[in-house]
Amino acid sequence: MTSGDFKVFSDVAKDHAMFPRNYGPNGGSDGHACITGPCGDTMEFWLTVKDGRIQRISFITDGCGSSLACGSMATTLAEDKPLADAAVVGQQDILQALGGLPPELEHCALLASNTLKAACRSHSQRKRGHS
Ligand code: FES
Repeated sequence: MTSGDFKVFSDVAKDHAMFPRNYGPNGGSDGHACITGPCGDTMEFWLTVKDGRIQRISFITDGCGSSLACGSMATTLAEDKPLADAAVVGQQDILQALGGLPPELEHCALLASNTLKAACRSHSQRKRGHS
């Protein structure tokens, strides 16, 4: 991937696409979700939660540069936050933080948001299952 591939991206989106934060399956096992979007790309999130806050978060995707940017930004918006706050990070929050994306790529932010929310829900469900 070169910076030229992202010439329609904002500087922030380009940076997250080329240097995704929290990338890799090493975010912990307190919460996990894997979702394949309608485009066929898959995103996967892992969480470690301590005292109700996200202590560690990571993601992987087999998707395009914009899905890398969206997953990366979703983890950045969620890390160190109370689980309840991370669980409401939405598509528009991710797009806004990235400085926008071309309309045809906005669905990548929805996939990131949906996967983050599902990972947060999986933590809550596991906790209820153990109480
Ligand atoms: Fe499918 Fe980016 S094109 S997530």
